[in-house]
Amino acid sequence: MRSVLAVTSIALSFNVLAAQGATWNLKDQYQGSSFFNNWDFTTGIDANTTGNVLYQSKADAASQKLTFINSAGNAIIKVDNTTVGQGDTYGRASIKITSQATIAQGSLLIMDAVHLPFGCSVWPAYWMQGPNWPNDGEIDIIENVNLATTNRYSLHTLQGCTHPAGPTDGETGQIISTDCFNQTNGNQGCIVQETKPNSYGAGFASIGGGVIAMRWDSTNGIQIWYFPRGSIPSDLSTTSPNPDGWGAPSADYPQSRCDTSKFFSPQHLILDITLCGNFAGAANVFQETCQGVCTDLIKTPTNYNNAYFEIAYIRHFVKYVILSVYTLCSTHVDYPSCTVAPL
Ligand SMILES: *[C@@H]1O[C@H](CO)[C@@H](O)[C@H](O)[C@H]1NC(C)=O
Ligand SMILES: *[C@@H]1O[C@H](CO)[C@@H](O)[C@H](O)[C@H]1NC(C)=O
Ligand SMILES: *[C@@H]1O[C@H](CO)[C@@H](O)[C@H](O)[C@H]1NC(C)=O
Repeated sequence: MRSVLAVTSIALSFNVLAAQGATWNLKDQYQGSSFFNNWDFTTGIDANTTGNVLYQSKADAASQKLTFINSAGNAIIKVDNTTVGQGDTYGRASIKITSQATIAQGSLLIMDAVHLPFGCSVWPAYWMQGPNWPNDGEIDIIENVNLATTNRYSLHTLQGCTHPAGPTDGETGQIISTDCFNQTNGNQGCIVQETKPNSYGAGFASIGGGVIAMRWDSTNGIQIWYFPRGSIPSDLSTTSPNPDGWGAPSADYPQSRCDTSKFFSPQHLILDITLCGNFAGAANVFQETCQGVCTDLIKTPTNYNNAYFEIAYIRHFVKYVILSVYTLCSTHVDYPSCTVAPL
């Protein structure tokens, strides 16, 4: 009997790859039939924003077809639009999901969406936060309410993180507010509003949506880009996207004005749709784009025919800097194989 050890030789090859070769590499992705794996479903009332919803468990969401993969292979996340509401405390069935994996400094996050939830009383968000709010920070990538036509980006932090007073490096979005501190203007956040057309609502849906990307690193701080369908850089959907070639971002929160390692700890990604509550339902906000009283809409299911996300994918990339590797190869006739290990 041959000894494996005796006939296995080890070939050691040594490669030095310079840091210049570092590219964005896929770490996690949410797509197709596995989209709903690895999320926690919040259940019960919307305790945080007092919206008129009842969040559903993973099993109940699937059985009511509030979460499913459609025939195009895209993930649908929606509000119940079939039940006629009853009673004074009725909460319409909806979804709030939080990723188990975290997104830390040194990340590129790309979402391709075909449709975002909209309609009077509808308040969707695609956002992230650390475990202890506001100390661990919050990054809002998609958020607006009712029949608004533009998406808004925002950060929420402890004191000391701001957006510069004017646009930076060609930033294309419109600055709405500059202090990210949660105690300024009732937790308004530092908001930049998208200026490219069709970034939200019926307009976004009419063009088949687009791609929204966020880069967060220690050199640049936090940047967010929006590309409407039809003008998406070709590298965005590949396994090696490169933001350096995308031009100026819509929103730019430079590291010089917000130390993103201090104000943000690793973030959990969240997708949710609430209804009315302390933003969409505030009378002055509601009446900007809708009429009457927000909560009067909740019991009527057809008000929610557009209250859904349709998402092609969400991909999380990180940069691996491989300084050196060695390759171990077995030349055993029965077990030829190689493994690569960082030194
Ligand atoms: C409220 O927010 C906290 C974190 O800030 C989260 O853990 C909790 O699930 C939220 N609750 C609801 C009902 O959204
Ligand atoms: C801001 O955060 C503090 C905790 O640091 C909290 O006590 C306060 O209520 C928050 N303010 C608002 C307006 O959310
Ligand atoms: C609910 O909304 C979907 C679109 O999200 C639509 O296809 C469906 O017809 C609506 N259901 C009812 C009962 O109106």
